[in-house]
This record gives sequence, structure tokens and C-alpha cells, in this order.
Amino acid sequence: MLYPEHVIEEIREQSDIISIISEYTALNKKGSSYVGLCPFHNEKTPSFSVSEDKQLYYCFGCGAGGNVITFLMQKENMTFIEAIKYLAERENIKLDETYLSNEEVENNKKRGLLLEILTESARYFHYSLRAPENEEALHYLTSRGLTMETIKHFGLGYATHQFNDLYEYLKQKGYSDQLLLESGLFLQSKQNQNRLYDRFAGRVIYPIFDLSKKVIAFGGRVLDGSMPKYLNSPENILFNKSRNLYGMHLAKNSGASYFILVEGYMDVIAMHQAGFTQTVASLGTAFTPGHAKLLKRHAKEVVILYDSDGAGQKAALRAIPILRSEGLKVKVLLLQEGKDPDEYLKTHGYESMKNLLEGAPSDLWFQIRTIEKKYDLKIPEEKVKFLQEIAGLLADTSSSIEQAIYLKEISKTYEIDEEAFKAEMNRYYQQGKRKVAMKVEAVSPHQKKQVFNNEVIFLANLYHYPNLARHVQSYLKPEFFEQGLLYDLAKAILESLRTGEEIDMTYFTTHYPEVNEQNIISHVLIHKDQRYEDIALLQKMMTENVKRLNKIYIERRLKETTDISEVQNLLFQKKELDRLNIDYING
Ligand code: CTP
Ligand code: MN
Repeated sequence: MLYPEHVIEEIREQSDIISIISEYTALNKKGSSYVGLCPFHNEKTPSFSVSEDKQLYYCFGCGAGGNVITFLMQKENMTFIEAIKYLAERENIKLDETYLSNEEVENNKKRGLLLEILTESARYFHYSLRAPENEEALHYLTSRGLTMETIKHFGLGYATHQFNDLYEYLKQKGYSDQLLLESGLFLQSKQNQNRLYDRFAGRVIYPIFDLSKKVIAFGGRVLDGSMPKYLNSPENILFNKSRNLYGMHLAKNSGASYFILVEGYMDVIAMHQAGFTQTVASLGTAFTPGHAKLLKRHAKEVVILYDSDGAGQKAALRAIPILRSEGLKVKVLLLQEGKDPDEYLKTHGYESMKNLLEGAPSDLWFQIRTIEKKYDLKIPEEKVKFLQEIAGLLADTSSSIEQAIYLKEISKTYEIDEEAFKAEMNRYYQQGKRKVAMKVEAVSPHQKKQVFNNEVIFLANLYHYPNLARHVQSYLKPEFFEQGLLYDLAKAILESLRTGEEIDMTYFTTHYPEVNEQNIISHVLIHKDQRYEDIALLQKMMTENVKRLNKIYIERRLKETTDISEVQNLLFQKKELDRLNIDYING
């Protein structure tokens, strides 16, 4: 682990979970906890609860739960370390380097140096672009319609044809070959004694920025028609393609209510220059859930604006479910054949683009239109198949409100009876239920209700109903539960039942930092299952679990042990178990 327990604990304790979560959803005090609408799934009545004294949150609707650290991990897509650093900064807690292992100190140092190298290089490329002898490169960009202001705004540059130009420049600043290689700016020559040479030589350069506007990678384009057209930095400790969007450092502050998602560097730049400063692109890679999370932090809606060719259409169809599963509203705009946004703007301008964007069809309509192209609707059999397919689409992907709206529009557009279409959709819905549930789970772990196993639910009941639990604790051992988290939780709960002391949260925060672990912890310690307010039901549940867990334990030990007296003892216990009658009143 990166930081010692006491530091993590200090950060967790000082971080006010209420005020942090309040930035995502309005919380109201109710009894000893705070409640509000769950930030992890869509709901109309609040089932999300935050406990100030336990410093945990839990949603009774979808089962999301954890502590302040896992909240940031889930909601902001941060790693554990990122969350710790974020909170430390927020609370003004100094994270002393002495807490770090040697390896981590090395890594931090390396990150710092790589950032320095990339910044130096970006400056160098930009300077080269503006040097008179390289006017060809600058001319290339201006002839594509970019103004000097835009070129500066995006820090565009040029890598000259001299393969050792940048290398010499950085060498003279003292960076080692190994570090330069790791920067992704250089390739190693096999013929020439492993000398490093400029990966991007002869290309215009598009620096890629992270959210804090630091250069973390580059894209480079040839000036002519040669191949490959674009080259990108390889991934390294600074650059992760599936977590970065080109243009996001500007787009996140655009103040627009929706993002525009395009395919390429030039599209982003041209869109920004035209005034659409909310435009971003995934970087020569498929759109990922990480990208969708990034967008979700800053807006609720995304318009996909891809080329209308087959590739663009396919990419749009792939991006839709990814965006949807983050709860984003999605529209799709494909420009006419062969046109990308950059070209479209040149011929049609801002107003025309704006109208297209505003009139863009929803993702569902886009999908319906795509399916329509496969069929000849003048032929009755084909029309039936078409309607069956879109009924399936609607049943699979949309909410009931959406379905009601689309039902009307579809029946009007395709001249079919609303009731007949509804029946078809229901048929699909019944069939597809299991399949859909599995699909949703695969795409987004927090939209589907969490399922907890018997042991977890039993532990929660032991914790929340101590008066009854006291009668069964003598029949239970931590060993009945799975090694690790459940064992530790059982041990802590049984101990707390004996002593009446509260559970030590520090231990659980530091030993079980993972999102799914904190989810289980918050389920056990916060989720008081109302069904068990019914005492008879609760007693039955407890007795059954005591018997079940004892039985599993005895059988396991019988297989494992070679000690004769233990075997005899276990067999005796097994017989006793059948007769066991727990007295919840006197016992
Ligand atoms: N891309 C890439 N490698 C390639 C081709 C494309 O990484 N060999 C990525 C780039 O990010 C590029 C995007 O895919 O911007 C879209 O590709 P394309 O439509 O071919 O490029 P444009 O952005 O239209 O580039 P240009 O207008 O400069 O030709
Ligand atoms: Mn283009």
C-alpha cells in the first residue's frame, strides 16, 4: 500500500463525506443520517443514505455503497491513490514523500521528468512551426483554414525532417536516453547502434493535454498523402488513451449543456474555431466507458457527430450503449456522404451546423433508421421483420417513458397499429428479460441492483438486530465465514455483540480499500432490512443461518481434520445441531 494506515485514516476522517457527496446530490438530514436521490442510478424518490458517524453511504435502491474514498473511485473514475491525493489536497493534509516506498518516489520523479520533457518538446515543436524555414508546415495548417489564434490555442507544432533535431535539443538539457525513450517521442534505430530518432519527424504536431492542461502525449500528421496519416504517442505512465479525450481540457469549461463527440483532431480544432468549444474526440481509438465517465462529470447530454461512412456509422452504434449506460442522453448526427465536421463547416458554416446539431435525432431514432435500411418496407414480410426488430430494440434498451413516446411516433411514421406494436414489444420483453439484465450488468456494474449473498445479509441482520443476535452469537464463529473481509466483519460484529463496543472503522477502511469491499461493508453496517422488523421472520432467518453455517463448517472440518477426537466432537455437534432450538427469550 502506498500510504500507511494512519495517513489514510486521517484523510478519511477529516474528509467530510456529507459535503463531498452533497456536490453530487442534495442531502437532507433525517434522523441520524442524511438522505437524497441516489447519484448512481436514476430515481424519483430518495433511497440513498449517508451515515455521518460511520462515514459510509448506501443506496437501498441499487445497493451502491462505500466510504468517501470509494465514492470518488466510483463517481469520478479515480484510482484509490488519486482519491487519496484529491482528498488530501482538499483537506490541506500534506502527503509527505517519506510515506512513499522507494519505488513510488522513483515513479513520481519519473512522471515529473516525463512531463517536463513533453512540455519542452511541445514548445520546441511550436517554435519550429513558426520558424521561417518551415513555412510549408504553417502553410499547411493555415490552408486548412486554421487561424494563428487557433494554432496557438491548441499549441500546434511541427517536427522537422531532421531525425535527430529534437533528440539533440533534449540531450543538451541533460535527459537520459532511457527517459527519452519512455517519453514516447523517440524510436530506436536497429541499424544505427540503437540510436534514438524522432518518431514524429516531418509531421505537424497536435499536443494532447490532460484535464489540468499538461501535455501528456502527441499526435502527428503527415503534410501530404503518405501513410500512415496519423501517428500517436504510445501509452505510458502519463498517457492512457481510454481515459483521455482530445479537446477535453477546453471542452469541460465550455459551459455548454451538451458535449459534441467527433472522430478526429482536425474536427475538434475546426469545431472549436467555429465556436463549438464543447467538442471532443477519442484519440484514434474506440470510445470506452472511461471516456463516457469523463463526459458524465460535466454534462448530461452528448451529440455524436461522426462521418457518415460505414466506419463512422458502426462507431456511433458502438458508442451509444456505452454513453447510455452512464446515464447520458445521446443524439446522433451523421453528415452527408464523405463529409467530416471540418469540411462541413468550411462549406456550410456555423449556423448550418448549429441547426443540424439541434435537430439531431435521438440515439433510438438513429438506430431505428439504421435498421430500416436493411429492409424494403414496401414488401409486407420485410416490414413485419423490421417492426419486430425495432420492437426488440425498444424493449431492450429504453425506459418505459421512452417506450410510450416512441410507440406513438413509430406507429405514425410507419403506419402501424399502436396496440399491435406494443404486443410485439411485450413479447420481446418477456423473452429478453434475462438477456437484458445480463447485458446491463456487463456494461455498468452500478446500474443493476447489487446482489449480496446469504452470509452478507445474515451479517447485516446480526449487526442491526443486536437484541436477537445476542441469543445466537454463542453458536457462531468467524471461521464460518469466508476468509478475508467476511471473516473480519463476522469477528468484529460478534465481538461488538459481546462487548457492546462500536466497530473499529479504521481497520476496515485501510484493509479493504476496494470499491466492491467497501460496498459490502456499507451494506452490512448501514442496510437495515425492514422485512426483518417482523420478529418471527427474523428469528426464523437467524436460526436457519446458524444451522446452515454450522453444518457447512462441520462438514468441511470433517473432510479436513485427521484428529480422531476432533472427528468425534464434530459428529457429536452434528447430532446436536438437528436438535438445536434457540431460545430467543431466555437463552
Ligand atoms: N487516426 C489515427 N491514425 C490513423 C488515422 C486516423 O490515429 N492512421 C485517428 C486520428 O485521431 C484522426 C482520427 O482517427 O484524427 C480520424 O481519422 P480521419 O477521419 O482519417 O482523420 P481526420 O481527423 O479527418 O484528419 P484530416 O482531416 O487531417 O485528414
Ligand atoms: Mn478530416
